[in-house]
Amino acid sequence: MKKDIQIGYEYFKNSSELSDIEQQLFERAKQARENAYAPYSQFLVGCAVLLENGDIYSGNNQENAAFPSGLCAERTTLFWVAANFPNEKIKKIFVVGGPKDFSEKNPPIPPCGACRQSLLEFETKQNENIDLYFSSMNEEVIKVQSIKDLLPFSFDATFL
Ligand code: THU
Repeated sequence: MKKDIQIGYEYFKNSSELSDIEQQLFERAKQARENAYAPYSQFLVGCAVLLENGDIYSGNNQENAAFPSGLCAERTTLFWVAANFPNEKIKKIFVVGGPKDFSEKNPPIPPCGACRQSLLEFETKQNENIDLYFSSMNEEVIKVQSIKDLLPFSFDATFL
């Protein structure tokens, strides 16, 4: 029996189509990207998180000479937020990435598989979806309304 999974997402041709708070997140993610430590890949990623109390926190990717010891922008940001505000729900997360010398052609950069899994843990923990936005520096933005949309057949705590 063949079955299909459908994923809904929103596409914004330009970040000017976003709401005020979404644009704020985009700006914060772009600023954070500037401080990424990515001397090995020259691929800079910034991330901004909106908490339920309205606060915004940001982070970026942190690389290491021992390559696997580095960490993506999403997890750097999420883990810091969780460490400092363990009871605050996450409403939105915005990711902006691209090569240091980006061009107009760079497409929106989606979170890697490991970051999707980590993000899913937060949705499970807070029992509420997180809006996820990802973009390159060229202002195109993609939005999904749940991390699950990027991780079909996902594994979470309900299986344990
Ligand atoms: N990177 C992120 O920060 N987030 C992702 O979701 C994809 C990849 C970083 C990791 C590494 O520092 C660089 O981008 C190249 O893979």
